[in-house]
Amino acid sequence: MNVQWQIIDKQYDLFRFPKGQHDKSLQAWDSADELVVEHLLANDEVSTDGLLILNDNFGALAVALNHLSPTVVTDSYVSQQAILQNCEANELTAPKLLDSLEKLPESKTVILRLTKNMGFLEYQLGQISQLAEPCQIIATGKTTLVTKGVLALFEKYLKNVTTSLAKKKSRLIFAEHDNSMQVPESKYPVTVAWPEKALDVKSHANVYSKEQIDIGGRFLAENLPELTRNQIIVDLGCGNGLIGLSALHQAKERNIDINVKFLDESFMAVDSARLNVAEQFETQLEQCEFTATDCLTGEEPQSLDLILCNPPFHQHNTITEHIALQMFTQAREMLKNGGKIFVVANNHLHYSYHLKNIFGGFKVHRKNTKFTIYKCTNHLEPK
Ligand SMILES: C[S@@+](CC[C@H](N)C(=O)[O-])C[C@H]1O[C@@H](n2cnc3c(N)ncnc32)[C@H](O)[C@@H]1O
Repeated sequence: MNVQWQIIDKQYDLFRFPKGQHDKSLQAWDSADELVVEHLLANDEVSTDGLLILNDNFGALAVALNHLSPTVVTDSYVSQQAILQNCEANELTAPKLLDSLEKLPESKTVILRLTKNMGFLEYQLGQISQLAEPCQIIATGKTTLVTKGVLALFEKYLKNVTTSLAKKKSRLIFAEHDNSMQVPESKYPVTVAWPEKALDVKSHANVYSKEQIDIGGRFLAENLPELTRNQIIVDLGCGNGLIGLSALHQAKERNIDINVKFLDESFMAVDSARLNVAEQFETQLEQCEFTATDCLTGEEPQSLDLILCNPPFHQHNTITEHIALQMFTQAREMLKNGGKIFVVANNHLHYSYHLKNIFGGFKVHRKNTKFTIYKCTNHLEPK
């Protein structure tokens, strides 16, 4: 993996998080980072007083613009860790970090890395349009992300929208906010009905499958094992929490107490799950925890009875298996002896190979034409 980033006259060591991923071709910055840093540092007329950076992936922007004391906003716990790791590796002060549900601070210049998620972009443009003071916005992204639809969204919330020429397959979008525009109210969190469970599931703007109940997650949620009293259960990569909600639903119907930990690296996901439990399983709220973290980091070894997981297969825009693998490896460590993990996966994904390697075997709990639910039991070696 290339970890030395040369930008203008500076060189930084930049790593993805976690370090040491299998795909050595992946690096922690891209041409969209380079383009916006070069633009900002070459243009004296851009005010860098009160710089706000949205969606820095692995800290390239926080590092290269560190001397401007930026505030960095991200929905990703993993990005926050990457930013801290890379500032430390380059002996730089960590920036102020905010998550994407927090109110934006007033700023003269906002740098926004475009993501594929149009709903999240609209949410963030809405947030910028709520700032009291005028500011300029410089968005950066791969040219494929600078679409007519994206520019139309910028025009809905901001003024004087223009674009740069493309350079190394990336482009900038320039815009201004001056408080004179009538902008629509945010539609987030959105709600979708799950009639089979008589539930309404709410999701913030950056949550996976927010406009419909995910079919893989739903397959697992509708085929849960029989839960037992006082089990400690993790909904791992919980998104809006539909799998954990289904566990709470079963526990309520059978009048048993269970503890459910909703874990995800997206702050918006964790807060959506919390909202859903608070509104629909209020009496069980005290037995639930909601934590933004990286996979199972922070859990006690051999403390969990059951892990329910619909694993992610990408990090930002890159398809990867490493998060699912980290989840399985940590599950082996955190499950009690005899504890179980249920993993739902698209039939074309070869998780069975990894599950067999890590747990020594697996059973197929359910299968349909699209998805398989694997079940593994943790057998600890006798001491
Ligand atoms: C395929 S989605 C499943 C969401 C939900 N459980 C469902 O079934 O609809 C995978 C989830 O894993 C989360 N995720 C990605 N990387 C993670 C990490 N390193 N640690 C914890 N969660 C992560 C994503 O934010 C996403 O919500």
